Amino acid sequence: MSTQTLTEAKMTHHDLLKDQVAIVTGSGRGIGLAIAKRLANAGATAIITDITEEFASSGAKEITDSGLKAFPTVCNVTDVSSIEKMTEEVMNKYGKVDILVNNAGITKDTLFMRMKLEDWSAVIETNLTSVFKVTQSVIKNMSKANYGRIVNIASVIGMHGNFGQANYAASKAGVIALTKTLAKEYASKNVTCNAIAPGFIDTAMTQKLKPEMKEQYLKFIPLGRFGQPEDVAEAAFYFCTGGSYITGQVIVVDGGMFM
Ligand SMILES: NC(=O)c1ccc[n+]([C@@H]2O[C@H](COP(=O)([O-])OP(=O)(O)OC[C@H]3O[C@@H](n4cnc5c(N)ncnc54)[C@H](O)[C@@H]3O)[C@@H](O)[C@H]2O)c1
Repeated sequence: MSTQTLTEAKMTHHDLLKDQVAIVTGSGRGIGLAIAKRLANAGATAIITDITEEFASSGAKEITDSGLKAFPTVCNVTDVSSIEKMTEEVMNKYGKVDILVNNAGITKDTLFMRMKLEDWSAVIETNLTSVFKVTQSVIKNMSKANYGRIVNIASVIGMHGNFGQANYAASKAGVIALTKTLAKEYASKNVTCNAIAPGFIDTAMTQKLKPEMKEQYLKFIPLGRFGQPEDVAEAAFYFCTGGSYITGQVIVVDGGMFM
């Protein structure tokens, strides 16, 4: 490829999401921030939403510091009024939402026999009911515009279960089923809805696991390393760019751990 063609290819690549607006929940750090960066890198304005002002601002700053477009706003995904406020703010400022990435999530791990109802409810609320709430708030605008890309961050645990993660597994299985239902209901509106099921990704969420547990997981990863947030971001980017004929699917990003 000549230098000129290479430059052109690069420019087109950076333009793929030009003028698009992408909301990513829980994008102050970790996988959400990596996804926001990837979309911004392709020309989108990334709406960085997180539970605190501080998280949202620091995430957005990382993006704007590198010359890309981002806008921080607080959004607690468990709180309908906070969600409505965020959607309204984005609609007033940009007039549309092209991409929604439901990424915010938490764990409260403990064996089933010790799991309290509040551990169950907090994880279901934050990981699953949040997807219902945020999507309800945003999807009507996509539907009207006859365009939308929704990407939900599920987990391989939602497909296979895991010791100590009854709440988390159930929440992520719910996200997968919700993804497929939205895909069916909104396909006629040119809104696609897909999910990503990451395996073990190196973020704050997994950094709190005991070293011996991490060693154990590593043995089951054929690619021999933990995933990076950027590995997940690449799949999200694909759903928002090349994947216009793909809906209702779950792509597993786990280094081959489950196959
Ligand atoms: N790290 C992994 O191995 C892994 C594997 C599979 C799936 N996931 C999923 O990926 C997503 C991102 O996780 P991560 O690993 O980047 O973890 P993380 O803890 O680094 O990031 C989660 C983000 O969500 C935000 N958040 C939490 N509760 C919120 C709320 N109520 N409202 C708004 N924001 C909230 C946090 O402030 C944080 O910025 C989660 O849905 C998680 O379940 C992670």
